[in-house]
Amino acid sequence: MQIFIASDHGGLALKEFLKKGLAKGNKITDLGCDNEKSCDYPDFAEKLAKEVAGSKGKATGILCCGTGIGMSMAANKVKGIRAAVVWNEVSAKMAKEHNNANVLCLGGRVLKNDEALKLVNVFLKSTFQGEKKDGERHKKRVDKIDALGENSGFPEPVVGALIFNEKNEVFLMKSPKWDGLYIIPGGHIELGENMRDALIREIKEETDLDIYDLKMFTLHDAIFPAGFHKKKHFLMVDFLAKTKSEKFKLDGKEGTKGVWMKPKLAAKELKLDQFTQKALEDYIKIMDLTKVV
Ligand code: RB5
Repeated sequence: MQIFIASDHGGLALKEFLKKGLAKGNKITDLGCDNEKSCDYPDFAEKLAKEVAGSKGKATGILCCGTGIGMSMAANKVKGIRAAVVWNEVSAKMAKEHNNANVLCLGGRVLKNDEALKLVNVFLKSTFQGEKKDGERHKKRVDKIDALGENSGFPEPVVGALIFNEKNEVFLMKSPKWDGLYIIPGGHIELGENMRDALIREIKEETDLDIYDLKMFTLHDAIFPAGFHKKKHFLMVDFLAKTKSEKFKLDGKEGTKGVWMKPKLAAKELKLDQFTQKALEDYIKIMDLTKVV
């Protein structure tokens, strides 16, 4: 099994011990720290958590600090991570069976080395009961934990845009799922550009949309996917209202056939989710579009 392991100075000795104890049959990757100098556990927790989250269920993480507590707090901030502090065999077993933890946090100042190794082995041998026939309740609960993580993290990604043509007709773009996964098309911001300019440029480059003006809207509690970088990416967008062209692609996503709509009509006719609806209504209010609708 692939195991990532990391510690701060308070868990260093335990980490070194566990590395030896787990070497047989496992691939161990040590992500630091590598000396006893005082350091900050969130740095190591973050590094490890991103590796484990990126492994898509293939790897397990072990974090050691003085108590295990700080490491677990930090690791649990990373989407996809369920980090558990364990202190005895029952908690180690349950962390896997009921909570499907993927990171184990151990306290080098509260556990003896050999006790801690035993707990890791108990954890590794246990299986998540949520995958079993009569264990659906555990899966449901763990899914709820994961969903909580999806509502935190990144302050203001762009998740949609209202595009206006010179006739003041509106075309809506939005993330395909407001309450689930967001797509990152790999758009980028060039030197000197702001997010809005970048969005216009990308849309112009890749579609036949007739852009006269564009208003972005954001969802404050949107997901912050692993690897997302504020300066390099923006979150967008799928086509909700339809374009006049038959089909086009935007960063690999196909749009579909459709039309431009007057803003007020769009607000009335289209079945919009609450965020898009609000963005559109705000726009209508601000611009006093009643005259042109
Ligand atoms: C470091 O002194 C200590 O605070 C840390 O190792 C850990 O116990 C935090 O939770």
